[in-house]
Amino acid sequence: MKISVIGTGYVGLATATVFAELGNEVIGADIDKGKIDKLNKGIMPIFEPGLKELVKRNLKEKRLRFTHNNKEAIEHAEVIFICVGTPPKANGETDLKYVEAVAKEIAQSMNSYKIIVHKSTVPVETGEMVKRIVKVNVKQNIDFDIVSNPEFLREGTAIKDTMEPDRIVIGADSKKAIEIMKKLYSQIKAPLVITDIKSAELIKHASNAFLATKISFINAVSQICGLSGANVERVAEGMGYDKRIVRAFLNAGIGYGGFCFPKDIQAFIKIAEKYGYDFQLLKATHNINEEQKLNFIKKVKKVLRNIEDKTIGVLGLSFKPDTDDMRFAPSIFIISELQKENAKIKAYDPEAMEKAKLILNDVEFCTDPYEVAKDADVLLILTEWNEFKEMDIKKIKSLMKKPLIIDGRNIYNPEDMLREGFSYISIGRKDVI
Ligand code: UGA
Repeated sequence: MKISVIGTGYVGLATATVFAELGNEVIGADIDKGKIDKLNKGIMPIFEPGLKELVKRNLKEKRLRFTHNNKEAIEHAEVIFICVGTPPKANGETDLKYVEAVAKEIAQSMNSYKIIVHKSTVPVETGEMVKRIVKVNVKQNIDFDIVSNPEFLREGTAIKDTMEPDRIVIGADSKKAIEIMKKLYSQIKAPLVITDIKSAELIKHASNAFLATKISFINAVSQICGLSGANVERVAEGMGYDKRIVRAFLNAGIGYGGFCFPKDIQAFIKIAEKYGYDFQLLKATHNINEEQKLNFIKKVKKVLRNIEDKTIGVLGLSFKPDTDDMRFAPSIFIISELQKENAKIKAYDPEAMEKAKLILNDVEFCTDPYEVAKDADVLLILTEWNEFKEMDIKKIKSLMKKPLIIDGRNIYNPEDMLREGFSYISIGRKDVI
């Protein structure tokens, strides 16, 4: 099939590449010419395991190409995926200006029947808005259908999640569009949820809100564990065996970050408000997430007493492992709060340092964890990269001023750390001091 994907962020790139890999003729479009030129040469704008190889192969086999000319992409395809950004406005609502602009462009360049699919996370009723914009701006009387087909991929596993999704959601009110979408997805084995457009839109927001709430729930439980002397890891394990609960997304830590959960929770609260519903549960989810970062900072201050001029080593900057994405990373808030009290920050991240350098000021960026540990008063673990789980802990100890680790991701076993002679503080588990 002839497909176009407008917007080449995480969702757009993964969608375009996977549909090309499945044998379709795909054009990926983006207004950023520099990005498009690089993509056509096989240079990736993001770090995403497996993406580069797949893009290169499909470019070579001519199933995939990239353009900064949206008109060309629109004319090429029968199915057009809108994958542009949906950033938050200052008040938390979703800013739909990019979706609106693309809808208008599609209308103006439409040359034959099109299925216009929105894949970006959008508020319920966006499909209707897109339909209105296309109707108003279309030049001739050309038929089109609107589909909501939300994306559930995670950064770090984007290709695998797109190839092997837990489900495919298709929201549409046209039989023809549903059949074409089913054919497009026929090679991917996953349960199909065929529904109306509004329900499909809500499935996405509800899913992200539920996952974020699961994380805030275990983070709240971790506070009780810390105060009572219980172990949150064992509590999560014991809960997780229940088939109705499941262990996934019950890792306590320093709160969720990234460009999805924080903005989607705020957006969903705003959507509810618009309909006159006070979504108190989600407000609590958000508040617990903010508290979790503050509680971590409290732990640092409590153990160091005075943090002025102390050297604080930070391991991990990205909002989660296997990505270089720094957007809404808890590390940004934690580092800036510590800097307010004149702590000296040294940091290392396996992939996110280039992006971190554009955001963080007055940080000494190091080439590996050992350089961070050298003469540090404390090491903070903010992202659970495998590299940190596997580092030579004896060497780390020998380099530090005092062997003290505050682990925001529970990557070590407290007893092991005690044996290694560390003072070790983690989340929702007994401190070893
Ligand atoms: C999330 C969803 O998982 C995807 O299904 C969705 O498609 C995506 O948002 C989106 O809307 O685009 P992502 O933001 O890439 O994906 O990352 P996650 O793996 O969900 O992690 C989000 C945050 O939660 C991270 O900061 C992570 O550290 C934190 N987290 C996750 C925890 O603190 N504990 C956990 O148990 C799991």
